[in-house]
Amino acid sequence: MPDDAPCSCGCPNTFSTREAEADLRRYRERGPDGTTQALIKAIVAEGIDGSTIIDIGAGVGAIQLALLDAGAARATSVDATEAYVDVARAEAGRRGYADRVDARLGLFEAIADEIESADVVTLDRVVCCDPDLPGLLSRVSDRARRMVGLVYPRETWWNRLAARVMDVWSWVTRDPTRWHLHATADIDRILTGAGFTRREVDRSLVWQVVLYVRA
Ligand SMILES: C[S@@+](CC[C@H](N)C(=O)[O-])C[C@H]1O[C@@H](n2cnc3c(N)ncnc32)[C@H](O)[C@@H]1O
Repeated sequence: MPDDAPCSCGCPNTFSTREAEADLRRYRERGPDGTTQALIKAIVAEGIDGSTIIDIGAGVGAIQLALLDAGAARATSVDATEAYVDVARAEAGRRGYADRVDARLGLFEAIADEIESADVVTLDRVVCCDPDLPGLLSRVSDRARRMVGLVYPRETWWNRLAARVMDVWSWVTRDPTRWHLHATADIDRILTGAGFTRREVDRSLVWQVVLYVRA
């Protein structure tokens, strides 16, 4: 079952402080969502002791915190929403990781050149916010040394229908929010073309969890 209604994200930087704080409360009460947990488990199973992480669209920072707990050395979280960057930075500090987490504000495509490559790059419910898949994933593959982990919408009739309904609603309310259903074949072409091998990890009604590992 989905953890949420289909992507509550919309376009980057549409979240308020109230939403970010509500997400943090939920995370503290229940931990990461099921699909996020599946991605974390798959990454940890590859061995991440001493690894470096970039978590794009990190939200409250659930992935970086779990991977640091599991032995990663350092994490850079990048989010286009200021409220999430503030919350992720504060939560990392509260968990004792202030000196091992760098929480950056911005669109990854825009600031990728300022960010050092890392062993693992994650995008949990992020590619569905972004209209420019090649622009985003080409920079991701450029920065990822070992793995790219993604949670993104499945190509199903119900997700297509949900995306259409959201498009109409956004048009009516003049909201720039869109839910982009990128084709698995397009994601695969970019990442396998960059030398990664696809591994299916898990799926819910709405989301699929995939780990790309460099051969
Ligand atoms: C649906 S939220 C997901 C948050 C978290 N990963 C989770 O699963 O709970 C998507 C987040 O990604 C951010 N985002 C989307 N595209 C981005 C990009 N290209 N670069 C940086 N942040 C991005 C949005 O601003 C938003 O905060």
